Amino acid sequence: MDMVTDAKSATGAAEQGAFGRRIVDLAARLAQWSETPDGLTCTYLTPTHRAVAAELRDLMRAAGMTAEIDGVGNVVGRYAAADPAAKALIVASHYDTVLNAGSYDGRLGILTGLAAVEHLHRSGRRLPFHLDVIGFAEEEGVRFSAHYIGSSAIAGRFDMRLLQWRDANGQSVADVIHKAGFDPEAIPSLARRAQDLLGYLEVHIEQGPVLLQEGLPVGIVTSIAGTIRYGVAITGMVGHAGTVPMALRRDAAAAAAEIVLYVERRCAAAPTLVGTVGRLTVPGGAINVIPGRCELSLDIRAADDATRDAAASDVLAEIERIGARRKVAIEIKEIQRAPAVPCSAPLQAKLAAAVERAGIRPRYLPSGAGHDAVSFSGLTDIAMLFVRCGNGGISHSPLETITPADADVATRVLLDVLVNFETAHGAR
Ligand code: HGY
Ligand code: MN
Ligand code: MN
Repeated sequence: MDMVTDAKSATGAAEQGAFGRRIVDLAARLAQWSETPDGLTCTYLTPTHRAVAAELRDLMRAAGMTAEIDGVGNVVGRYAAADPAAKALIVASHYDTVLNAGSYDGRLGILTGLAAVEHLHRSGRRLPFHLDVIGFAEEEGVRFSAHYIGSSAIAGRFDMRLLQWRDANGQSVADVIHKAGFDPEAIPSLARRAQDLLGYLEVHIEQGPVLLQEGLPVGIVTSIAGTIRYGVAITGMVGHAGTVPMALRRDAAAAAAEIVLYVERRCAAAPTLVGTVGRLTVPGGAINVIPGRCELSLDIRAADDATRDAAASDVLAEIERIGARRKVAIEIKEIQRAPAVPCSAPLQAKLAAAVERAGIRPRYLPSGAGHDAVSFSGLTDIAMLFVRCGNGGISHSPLETITPADADVATRVLLDVLVNFETAHGAR
C-alpha cells in the first residue's frame, strides 16, 4: 500500500470539521442516558450503562462493522479486513463514567474510532488488518472499586477474584454480570492472543491543562502513571459531643484529618507524585456525636513505580503512627495496584508523523491519569493520543469540554495512522 502523503488524502474529501461535529453530537446523544436526573453518571451494568452499550453497538453496525456486546459488557466492533486471518489493531476506550461526569472522558476514544470507520466505510475503503473499535464497560471503578474490568478481560488479565467484590447495595460483580445475561465463568474466553494483535491505540482527553496552555489540539502520550489505591477504616470511640473531655477522646475523624494532611504533604515531595483522598465518610455521623468510625480512600500515583511505592510505604507508616498515638484501630486494604507503563516508541512515532502531516507540532507528555491502555501493556504495542481539554483542563466534572475542531483533528490524525499503518510484522 503506497504511503499517503498527508492527512487530507487519508481522509479524502471529508469536509473540515465534519468528524468533530459528528463526535460532539454523538457524545451528547450518549449523555442523554444517566443514573441521575441531572448530570451524567453511567456505572457498571446499570440500566443506563446497558442502554449506552446498545446505542454504541447499533452505531457500530450502522458504520459497517460487525458489533456485539461481550460477556462483561464491552461493545466490540470489527471493521474487517478482506482476509479473515488478518491481525487486528484495537482502537478503544471506556464508556462508563465517574459520578457527575463530563461527556468525553473515555467516550471520545470510542467515538473517534467510530467516526474514522464511518469515513472508511463511506469511502468503500478496507484496511489490510481488522480494525476493532471497542467500548470498554468499566474503567473508572466507581460502582465496585474495581477498574479496568472491560479491558483486562480482553487483554486476558481479568482477576476472577473481582467477581466477589460488592457495590454499596451488596450486589456482587458476578451478580450483575449474571443479571445482564452473561456467564462470569466464560470471561477468560474473551482474552485476545498477542499474536493476533498489531497494537492498541487510545484517543483520550488530556484531563489536564498542558495542551490548552500551549495552544495545541493534540499531544502524544509517553507513559501512563502507576497507581496504588487503598481503603482505610478507622475505629475510635463514639461518644457524646458535649460530655467527653477532649483529652479522653478517640475521635476517628480527627485521625482521618491527620492522614489527609500527611498525604497532601508527602505527595507534594516529588514532581510526578500525587496523592488523593477522594472519599471520606463518617458512617451514621451526627452533629452531636464524636465520630467512632471514619472511612477514607487513598489514591497514590507517580510516573515511575519506585516513587509511587516509596510514598505509599511512608503514608502507611505514618498511618500506623497516627493510629498508635490516637489509640484508634486502623484497617488498611489495598484495593488495586496498576504499574506505570511506557507507550510504544514505534506507535508514538506513527502518531507523531501523522500529527506533523496535519501541520501540528508533536508534543509529548506523560499521563497522570490511568487508562485502559495499561491493560494491554506488555501484550501488544500501546499508544495514546491526547486531545486538548477546555475550561482549564478540568475533567471528572460536568465542566469537562473539548471543541469539535480538536475532535476533528484527532480523527484525521487517527485516520492518517490507520491508512499508513504499514504492518512491519505483516497484517497476517
Ligand atoms: O483514575 C483515573 O486515572 C482514571 O480516570 N480512571
Ligand atoms: Mn476518568
Ligand atoms: Mn478515562
